[in-house]
Amino acid sequence: MKRTFRWIECGLLFIIAVAAVAACGGQAMPPPVAATNTPLPPAPTEAPTSTRLPTATHTPLPPPTETATSTPQPVATEAAEKPVATEAAEKPVAELAEAANQVYAQNSCGACHGANYEGGFATILVGLPAERIQSVTRAGDPEAGMPAFDQDAISDDELRSLAEFLSGLTLPDIGVELPPAVVDHLSQARDALQAGDQAAVETHLKEAQEAGADAPPGVQVTLKGLVESDDAGDGVEALLRQ
Ligand code: HEC
Repeated sequence: MKRTFRWIECGLLFIIAVAAVAACGGQAMPPPVAATNTPLPPAPTEAPTSTRLPTATHTPLPPPTETATSTPQPVATEAAEKPVATEAAEKPVAELAEAANQVYAQNSCGACHGANYEGGFATILVGLPAERIQSVTRAGDPEAGMPAFDQDAISDDELRSLAEFLSGLTLPDIGVELPPAVVDHLSQARDALQAGDQAAVETHLKEAQEAGADAPPGVQVTLKGLVESDDAGDGVEALLRQ
């Protein structure tokens, strides 16, 4: 007896639930969903209803069957949104990057400065002023181990686009994150630079280097480079750019 009651209770509850959802589905669902998913209005309208009614397939009501067919829609929504977002974010960089990447790769800059611009044997170059990148690339720095690249190796146009591209990048662009303590000390170094307090600049740069002792090698080399430089301003700005 108890069991039969259970079944009747369940059946009733189920029918009530299905009826309620069927009744509400048409009215309550569309506005919120339409608001979040503007690009695909038809899909989301049905999708949420279907999540509530997966067991309803055996009932005589037509709505469940309809909604069941729409189950794949949320997936479609996701798929449709992703490419749009990445395209928008990557397109300008990708266009600029194509020419620049080629020059960078053909001349093996990455062997020393990091294949993905992350530094390594030599410093991270992203965010430095374009003119500085151009002049050092042409002149080289034989003592430091930086080869000179003449016009046969890199034309003026190629060098300009490479320099502009590198200069426009930030650490977040290349996926490099500085430890917060390094950021703190670099910010203090920047303040000291602005105040013209050379002693404080040196102190904060050394502290930044110490705070970056566990950072990736390219970051360590770059911080060391700042400590050894007597013109660290550009480099500090480059690392702090967001
Ligand atoms: C054999 C290794 C090596 C190669 C290859 C190399 N560099 Fe360098 N580069 C260095 C070293 C070493 C320095 C000086 C210290 C530092 O910045 O790490 C340097 C310095 C620089 C600087 C100065 C950075 C600053 O803070 O002023 C720029 C700009 C630069 N390189 C650009 C390039 C470009 C562009 C290429 C490719 C066309 C390239 N380098 C290829 C090793 C290299």
